[in-house]
Amino acid sequence: MRVFQIEGNWGFENLKLSERPKPEPGPGEVLIAMRMASLNSRDLIVPDRGYGRATGELPLIPVSDGVGEVVAIGDGVTRVAVGDRVTPTYFQRWVSGEPSPDRFASALGGPLDGVMADFVCLSQEGVVRIPEYLSDAEAATLPCAGLTAWSAIVTHGVTRPGDRVLIQGTGGVALFAFVFAKQAGAHVTVISSSDEKLERVRAMGADATINYREVEDWARASREITADRGGFDNIVELGGAETLPLSLRAVRPGGTLSMIGVLSGLNIKASLGLIVARQVRLQGVTVGHRDGYEAMLAGMSQHEIRPVLGERFGFEELKEALDHLRAGGHFGKTLVQF
Ligand SMILES: NC(=O)c1ccc[n+]([C@@H]2O[C@H](COP(=O)([O-])OP(=O)(O)OC[C@H]3O[C@@H](n4cnc5c(N)ncnc54)[C@H](OP(=O)(O)O)[C@@H]3O)[C@@H](O)[C@H]2O)c1
Repeated sequence: MRVFQIEGNWGFENLKLSERPKPEPGPGEVLIAMRMASLNSRDLIVPDRGYGRATGELPLIPVSDGVGEVVAIGDGVTRVAVGDRVTPTYFQRWVSGEPSPDRFASALGGPLDGVMADFVCLSQEGVVRIPEYLSDAEAATLPCAGLTAWSAIVTHGVTRPGDRVLIQGTGGVALFAFVFAKQAGAHVTVISSSDEKLERVRAMGADATINYREVEDWARASREITADRGGFDNIVELGGAETLPLSLRAVRPGGTLSMIGVLSGLNIKASLGLIVARQVRLQGVTVGHRDGYEAMLAGMSQHEIRPVLGERFGFEELKEALDHLRAGGHFGKTLVQF
Protein backbone atom coordinates (compact mmCIF):
# COMPACT_ATOMS: atom_id res chain seq x y z
CA MET A 1 0.00 0.00 0.00
CA ARG A 2 1.02 3.64 -0.49
CA VAL A 3 2.23 5.58 2.53
CA PHE A 4 3.85 8.93 3.10
CA GLN A 5 6.57 8.62 5.69
CA ILE A 6 9.47 10.56 7.12
CA GLU A 7 12.35 8.16 6.52
CA GLY A 8 16.10 8.02 6.98
CA ASN A 9 16.44 11.34 8.79
CA TRP A 10 14.16 14.00 10.23
CA GLY A 11 13.39 16.98 8.00
CA PHE A 12 10.66 17.98 5.57
CA GLU A 13 12.91 16.89 2.67
CA ASN A 14 12.77 13.33 4.04
CA LEU A 15 8.99 13.15 3.87
CA LYS A 16 8.59 10.64 1.02
CA LEU A 17 5.97 8.70 -0.87
CA SER A 18 6.79 5.07 -0.09
CA GLU A 19 5.35 1.55 0.26
CA ARG A 20 4.54 -0.63 3.26
CA PRO A 21 2.80 -4.02 3.46
CA LYS A 22 -0.96 -3.79 3.99
CA PRO A 23 -1.62 -4.48 7.72
CA GLU A 24 -3.92 -7.26 9.02
CA PRO A 25 -6.18 -6.51 11.99
CA GLY A 26 -5.33 -8.57 15.10
CA PRO A 27 -7.72 -9.22 18.01
CA GLY A 28 -9.55 -6.03 18.98
CA GLU A 29 -8.29 -4.16 15.92
CA VAL A 30 -9.97 -2.63 12.88
CA LEU A 31 -8.58 -2.08 9.38
CA ILE A 32 -9.63 1.22 7.81
CA ALA A 33 -9.39 2.09 4.11
CA MET A 34 -8.61 5.80 4.34
CA ARG A 35 -10.58 8.20 2.12
CA MET A 36 -9.59 11.69 3.20
CA ALA A 37 -7.11 13.40 5.53
CA SER A 38 -7.01 16.92 6.87
CA LEU A 39 -3.95 18.93 7.90
CA ASN A 40 -3.14 20.74 11.13
CA SER A 41 -0.42 23.16 12.08
CA ARG A 42 1.38 20.33 13.96
CA ASP A 43 1.82 18.43 10.69
CA LEU A 44 4.31 21.17 9.73
CA ILE A 45 6.23 20.65 12.98
CA VAL A 46 6.42 16.84 13.11
CA PRO A 47 8.70 16.28 10.05
CA ASP A 48 11.40 18.41 11.72
CA ARG A 49 11.08 16.44 15.01
CA GLY A 50 9.68 19.65 16.50
CA TYR A 51 8.25 17.92 19.57
CA GLY A 52 11.62 16.34 20.47
CA ARG A 53 11.43 12.77 21.73
CA ALA A 54 7.64 13.02 21.87
CA THR A 55 7.63 13.23 18.05
CA GLY A 56 8.32 9.46 17.80
CA GLU A 57 10.72 7.27 15.85
CA LEU A 58 11.54 6.94 12.14
CA PRO A 59 10.11 5.88 9.81
CA LEU A 60 6.98 7.79 10.83
CA ILE A 61 3.70 8.17 8.92
CA PRO A 62 2.47 11.75 9.56
CA VAL A 63 -0.96 13.41 9.97
CA SER A 64 -3.51 12.72 12.70
CA ASP A 65 -6.83 13.63 11.12
CA GLY A 66 -8.72 11.62 8.53
CA VAL A 67 -11.72 9.48 7.74
CA GLY A 68 -12.17 6.07 6.15
CA GLU A 69 -14.25 2.93 5.95
CA VAL A 70 -13.82 -0.15 8.11
CA VAL A 71 -12.93 -2.97 5.68
CA ALA A 72 -11.93 -5.75 8.13
CA ILE A 73 -12.16 -6.39 11.87
CA GLY A 74 -10.21 -8.68 14.19
CA ASP A 75 -11.64 -11.10 16.77
CA GLY A 76 -13.63 -9.50 19.56
CA VAL A 77 -14.39 -6.20 17.83
CA THR A 78 -17.82 -4.90 18.87
CA ARG A 79 -17.55 -1.08 18.69
CA VAL A 80 -17.71 -0.95 14.87
CA ALA A 81 -18.57 -3.23 11.94
CA VAL A 82 -17.29 -3.67 8.39
CA GLY A 83 -18.75 -0.88 6.22
CA ASP A 84 -18.87 1.72 9.02
CA ARG A 85 -17.40 5.12 8.29
CA VAL A 86 -15.03 6.10 11.10
CA THR A 87 -12.39 8.58 12.11
CA PRO A 88 -9.55 7.74 14.45
CA THR A 89 -9.36 9.60 17.75
CA TYR A 90 -6.35 11.88 18.03
CA PHE A 91 -5.17 10.29 21.30
CA GLN A 92 -5.52 6.56 20.73
CA ARG A 93 -5.35 5.65 24.44
CA TRP A 94 -7.27 8.57 26.02
CA VAL A 95 -10.84 7.35 26.17
CA SER A 96 -12.01 9.37 29.21
CA GLY A 97 -10.91 10.77 32.55
CA GLU A 98 -7.77 12.69 33.36
CA PRO A 99 -4.77 13.02 31.03
CA SER A 100 -1.65 10.97 31.80
CA PRO A 101 1.81 10.66 30.24
CA ASP A 102 0.79 7.40 28.55
CA ARG A 103 -2.43 8.90 27.18
CA PHE A 104 -0.54 11.93 25.85
CA ALA A 105 2.03 9.59 24.26
CA SER A 106 -0.67 8.06 22.04
CA ALA A 107 -1.17 10.81 19.43
CA LEU A 108 -1.52 9.79 15.80
CA GLY A 109 0.88 11.26 13.29
CA GLY A 110 3.68 11.42 15.90
CA PRO A 111 4.62 9.54 18.02
CA LEU A 112 2.26 6.89 16.58
CA ASP A 113 2.02 6.35 12.84
CA GLY A 114 -0.69 8.58 11.37
CA VAL A 115 -3.26 8.39 8.61
CA MET A 116 -1.25 9.10 5.41
CA ALA A 117 -1.54 5.45 4.31
CA ASP A 118 -4.03 3.64 2.09
CA PHE A 119 -4.90 1.39 5.06
CA VAL A 120 -4.60 2.10 8.77
CA CYS A 121 -4.92 -0.58 11.47
CA LEU A 122 -6.04 0.68 14.92
CA SER A 123 -7.48 -0.58 18.19
CA GLN A 124 -11.28 -0.49 18.17
CA GLU A 125 -10.96 1.82 21.22
CA GLY A 126 -9.31 4.43 18.98
CA VAL A 127 -12.03 4.79 16.34
CA VAL A 128 -15.43 6.51 16.33
CA ARG A 129 -18.39 6.18 13.94
CA ILE A 130 -19.23 9.41 12.14
CA PRO A 131 -22.74 10.87 11.72
CA GLU A 132 -24.19 10.41 8.23
CA TYR A 133 -24.92 14.08 7.59
CA LEU A 134 -21.19 14.88 7.47
CA SER A 135 -19.34 14.47 4.15
CA ASP A 136 -16.00 12.63 4.11
CA ALA A 137 -14.18 15.96 3.82
CA GLU A 138 -16.06 17.40 6.80
CA ALA A 139 -15.51 14.30 8.93
CA ALA A 140 -11.77 14.27 8.19
CA THR A 141 -11.32 17.64 9.93
CA LEU A 142 -12.68 16.64 13.33
CA PRO A 143 -10.23 14.54 15.42
CA CYS A 144 -7.66 17.24 16.34
CA ALA A 145 -8.89 20.66 15.20
CA GLY A 146 -12.57 20.07 15.96
CA LEU A 147 -12.09 18.47 19.35
CA THR A 148 -9.51 21.03 20.51
CA ALA A 149 -11.96 23.85 19.82
CA TRP A 150 -14.82 21.93 21.46
CA SER A 151 -12.69 21.38 24.57
CA ALA A 152 -11.88 25.10 24.75
CA ILE A 153 -15.42 26.35 24.18
CA VAL A 154 -17.53 23.65 25.78
CA THR A 155 -15.63 21.14 27.97
CA HIS A 156 -13.30 23.56 29.77
CA GLY A 157 -14.74 26.92 28.70
CA VAL A 158 -18.38 26.11 29.51
CA THR A 159 -19.56 28.95 27.32
CA ARG A 160 -22.94 30.48 28.20
CA PRO A 161 -25.30 32.51 26.04
CA GLY A 162 -24.21 36.13 26.05
CA ASP A 163 -20.57 35.37 26.95
CA ARG A 164 -18.00 37.52 25.19
CA VAL A 165 -15.51 35.20 23.46
CA LEU A 166 -12.40 36.26 21.53
CA ILE A 167 -10.90 34.01 18.86
CA GLN A 168 -7.39 34.55 17.49
CA GLY A 169 -6.99 34.17 13.73
CA THR A 170 -9.02 32.22 11.22
CA GLY A 171 -7.05 28.94 11.15
CA GLY A 172 -8.40 25.43 11.60
CA VAL A 173 -8.92 25.46 15.38
CA ALA A 174 -10.07 29.10 15.30
CA LEU A 175 -12.92 28.55 12.84
CA PHE A 176 -14.17 25.52 14.78
CA ALA A 177 -14.05 27.58 17.99
CA PHE A 178 -15.95 30.33 16.20
CA VAL A 179 -18.70 27.96 15.06
CA PHE A 180 -19.03 26.29 18.49
CA ALA A 181 -19.05 29.62 20.37
CA LYS A 182 -21.75 31.02 18.09
CA GLN A 183 -23.75 27.83 18.56
CA ALA A 184 -23.47 28.26 22.35
CA GLY A 185 -25.02 31.72 22.00
CA ALA A 186 -21.88 33.74 22.69
CA HIS A 187 -20.97 37.16 21.30
CA VAL A 188 -17.85 36.37 19.26
CA THR A 189 -14.97 38.68 18.35
CA VAL A 190 -12.45 37.44 15.77
CA ILE A 191 -9.02 38.96 15.19
CA SER A 192 -7.18 38.28 11.92
CA SER A 193 -4.30 39.64 9.84
CA SER A 194 -6.55 39.76 6.76
CA ASP A 195 -9.48 42.10 6.04
CA GLU A 196 -10.72 39.63 3.45
CA LYS A 197 -10.85 36.81 6.02
CA LEU A 198 -12.57 39.13 8.51
CA GLU A 199 -15.20 39.86 5.91
CA ARG A 200 -15.77 36.13 5.53
CA VAL A 201 -16.20 35.59 9.29
CA ARG A 202 -18.57 38.56 9.48
CA ALA A 203 -20.64 36.88 6.75
CA MET A 204 -20.63 33.77 8.98
CA GLY A 205 -22.00 35.82 11.91
CA ALA A 206 -18.97 37.25 13.74
CA ASP A 207 -20.21 39.97 16.09
CA ALA A 208 -17.01 42.04 16.04
CA THR A 209 -13.73 41.85 14.10
CA ILE A 210 -10.32 43.47 14.47
CA ASN A 211 -7.35 43.35 12.08
CA TYR A 212 -4.46 42.59 14.48
CA ARG A 213 -1.83 43.81 12.01
CA GLU A 214 -3.51 47.22 11.63
CA VAL A 215 -4.64 47.51 15.26
CA GLU A 216 -1.73 46.05 17.18
CA ASP A 217 -3.18 46.85 20.62
CA TRP A 218 -6.39 44.89 20.10
CA ALA A 219 -6.72 44.54 23.90
CA ARG A 220 -7.36 48.28 24.09
CA ALA A 221 -9.45 48.31 20.90
CA SER A 222 -11.80 45.66 22.27
CA ARG A 223 -12.56 47.45 25.57
CA GLU A 224 -15.85 48.80 24.30
CA ILE A 225 -17.01 45.30 23.31
CA THR A 226 -16.60 44.04 26.87
CA ALA A 227 -17.24 47.29 28.78
CA ASP A 228 -20.07 45.77 30.84
CA ARG A 229 -17.79 43.11 32.37
CA GLY A 230 -14.23 44.37 32.08
CA GLY A 231 -12.94 41.92 29.49
CA PHE A 232 -13.64 38.71 27.59
CA ASP A 233 -15.10 35.71 29.40
CA ASN A 234 -12.99 33.32 27.30
CA ILE A 235 -10.10 33.98 24.94
CA VAL A 236 -9.05 31.19 22.57
CA GLU A 237 -5.28 31.70 22.79
CA LEU A 238 -3.59 30.50 19.62
CA GLY A 239 -0.90 33.11 19.01
CA GLY A 240 1.34 32.42 22.04
CA ALA A 241 4.25 34.81 22.59
CA GLU A 242 2.81 37.74 20.60
CA THR A 243 -0.76 37.45 21.83
CA LEU A 244 -0.63 36.23 25.45
CA PRO A 245 0.48 39.59 26.94
CA LEU A 246 -2.50 41.21 25.19
CA SER A 247 -4.86 38.41 26.19
CA LEU A 248 -3.89 38.89 29.83
CA ARG A 249 -5.09 42.49 29.55
CA ALA A 250 -8.18 41.67 27.52
CA VAL A 251 -9.62 38.86 29.69
CA ARG A 252 -12.13 39.82 32.38
CA PRO A 253 -11.47 39.25 36.09
CA GLY A 254 -12.32 35.58 36.67
CA GLY A 255 -12.27 34.91 32.92
CA THR A 256 -10.53 32.06 31.11
CA LEU A 257 -7.59 31.96 28.74
CA SER A 258 -7.90 28.74 26.75
CA MET A 259 -4.23 28.08 26.08
CA ILE A 260 -4.02 26.13 22.83
CA GLY A 261 -1.45 27.44 20.36
CA VAL A 262 1.97 28.99 20.21
CA LEU A 263 1.97 30.22 16.60
CA SER A 264 4.24 33.20 17.30
CA GLY A 265 6.57 31.59 19.87
CA LEU A 266 6.75 29.72 23.16
CA ASN A 267 8.32 32.14 25.64
CA ILE A 268 6.93 35.34 27.14
CA LYS A 269 7.67 37.81 29.89
CA ALA A 270 4.45 38.93 31.54
CA SER A 271 3.19 40.37 34.81
CA LEU A 272 1.86 37.55 36.97
CA GLY A 273 -0.13 40.20 38.83
CA LEU A 274 -2.57 40.26 35.92
CA ILE A 275 -3.34 36.59 36.60
CA VAL A 276 -3.22 36.47 40.40
CA ALA A 277 -4.96 39.72 41.34
CA ARG A 278 -7.69 39.25 38.72
CA GLN A 279 -8.21 35.52 39.36
CA VAL A 280 -7.71 34.64 35.70
CA ARG A 281 -7.95 30.96 34.80
CA LEU A 282 -5.19 29.68 32.48
CA GLN A 283 -6.66 26.52 31.02
CA GLY A 284 -4.23 24.45 28.98
CA VAL A 285 -6.06 22.52 26.27
CA THR A 286 -4.52 19.43 24.69
CA VAL A 287 -7.08 18.21 22.17
CA GLY A 288 -9.29 16.00 24.38
CA HIS A 289 -10.48 12.45 25.02
CA ARG A 290 -12.83 10.13 23.14
CA ASP A 291 -15.75 10.89 25.45
CA GLY A 292 -15.36 14.58 24.55
CA TYR A 293 -15.15 13.66 20.88
CA GLU A 294 -18.40 11.72 21.05
CA ALA A 295 -20.04 14.59 22.95
CA MET A 296 -18.88 16.94 20.19
CA LEU A 297 -20.35 14.70 17.48
CA ALA A 298 -23.67 14.59 19.36
CA GLY A 299 -23.62 18.39 19.77
CA MET A 300 -22.79 18.93 16.11
CA SER A 301 -25.45 16.47 14.93
CA GLN A 302 -28.16 18.24 16.92
CA HIS A 303 -27.93 21.29 14.64
CA GLU A 304 -26.08 19.66 11.72
CA ILE A 305 -23.07 21.90 12.32
CA ARG A 306 -20.57 21.75 9.46
CA PRO A 307 -16.82 22.42 9.54
CA VAL A 308 -15.40 25.13 7.27
CA LEU A 309 -13.47 23.55 4.39
CA GLY A 310 -10.58 24.95 2.39
CA GLU A 311 -8.43 23.68 -0.48
CA ARG A 312 -8.21 20.03 -1.58
CA PHE A 313 -5.09 18.19 -2.73
CA GLY A 314 -4.50 14.64 -3.99
CA PHE A 315 -2.77 11.97 -1.85
CA GLU A 316 0.50 12.34 -3.74
CA GLU A 317 0.38 16.13 -3.31
CA LEU A 318 0.85 16.01 0.48
CA LYS A 319 3.93 18.22 0.34
CA GLU A 320 2.10 20.83 -1.76
CA ALA A 321 -0.78 20.70 0.73
CA LEU A 322 1.64 21.30 3.63
CA ASP A 323 3.25 24.19 1.72
CA HIS A 324 -0.22 25.66 1.23
CA LEU A 325 -0.87 25.46 4.99
CA ARG A 326 2.53 26.95 5.80
CA ALA A 327 1.89 29.94 3.51
CA GLY A 328 -1.02 30.90 5.80
CA GLY A 329 -3.46 32.11 3.16
CA HIS A 330 -5.94 29.32 3.87
CA PHE A 331 -9.46 29.82 5.19
CA GLY A 332 -10.98 26.51 6.28
CA LYS A 333 -9.38 23.09 6.64
CA THR A 334 -6.85 21.91 4.06
CA LEU A 335 -7.78 18.46 2.75
CA VAL A 336 -5.96 15.52 1.18
CA GLN A 337 -8.14 13.21 -0.89
CA PHE A 338 -7.02 9.58 -1.24
N1 LIG B 1 -3.17 22.37 22.23
C1 LIG B 1 -3.76 21.63 21.31
O1 LIG B 1 -4.40 20.61 21.60
C2 LIG B 1 -3.70 22.06 19.88
C3 LIG B 1 -4.48 21.43 18.92
C4 LIG B 1 -4.46 21.92 17.62
C5 LIG B 1 -3.64 23.00 17.32
N2 LIG B 1 -2.86 23.53 18.28
C6 LIG B 1 -2.02 24.70 18.01
O2 LIG B 1 -2.90 25.78 17.70
C7 LIG B 1 -2.30 26.63 16.75
C8 LIG B 1 -3.22 26.76 15.54
O3 LIG B 1 -3.31 25.52 14.87
P1 LIG B 1 -4.16 25.39 13.53
O4 LIG B 1 -3.95 24.00 13.04
O5 LIG B 1 -5.52 25.93 13.75
O6 LIG B 1 -3.31 26.39 12.61
P2 LIG B 1 -3.62 27.06 11.22
O7 LIG B 1 -4.87 26.53 10.61
O8 LIG B 1 -2.37 26.97 10.44
O9 LIG B 1 -3.89 28.58 11.65
C9 LIG B 1 -2.99 29.60 11.39
C10 LIG B 1 -3.71 30.93 11.56
O10 LIG B 1 -3.51 31.43 12.87
C11 LIG B 1 -3.53 32.84 12.83
N3 LIG B 1 -2.33 33.41 13.50
C12 LIG B 1 -1.03 33.18 13.23
N4 LIG B 1 -0.25 33.94 13.99
C13 LIG B 1 -1.09 34.69 14.76
C14 LIG B 1 -0.90 35.70 15.74
N5 LIG B 1 0.33 36.10 16.09
N6 LIG B 1 -1.99 36.24 16.32
C15 LIG B 1 -3.23 35.84 15.98
N7 LIG B 1 -3.48 34.90 15.05
C16 LIG B 1 -2.41 34.33 14.46
C17 LIG B 1 -3.53 33.26 11.38
O11 LIG B 1 -4.87 33.67 11.08
P3 LIG B 1 -5.15 34.91 10.10
O12 LIG B 1 -4.63 34.47 8.77
O13 LIG B 1 -6.61 35.08 10.16
O14 LIG B 1 -4.38 36.07 10.66
C18 LIG B 1 -3.16 31.99 10.64
O15 LIG B 1 -3.74 31.91 9.37
C19 LIG B 1 -0.93 26.02 16.45
O16 LIG B 1 0.03 26.62 17.32
C20 LIG B 1 -1.11 24.57 16.81
O17 LIG B 1 0.10 23.92 17.12
C21 LIG B 1 -2.87 23.09 19.55
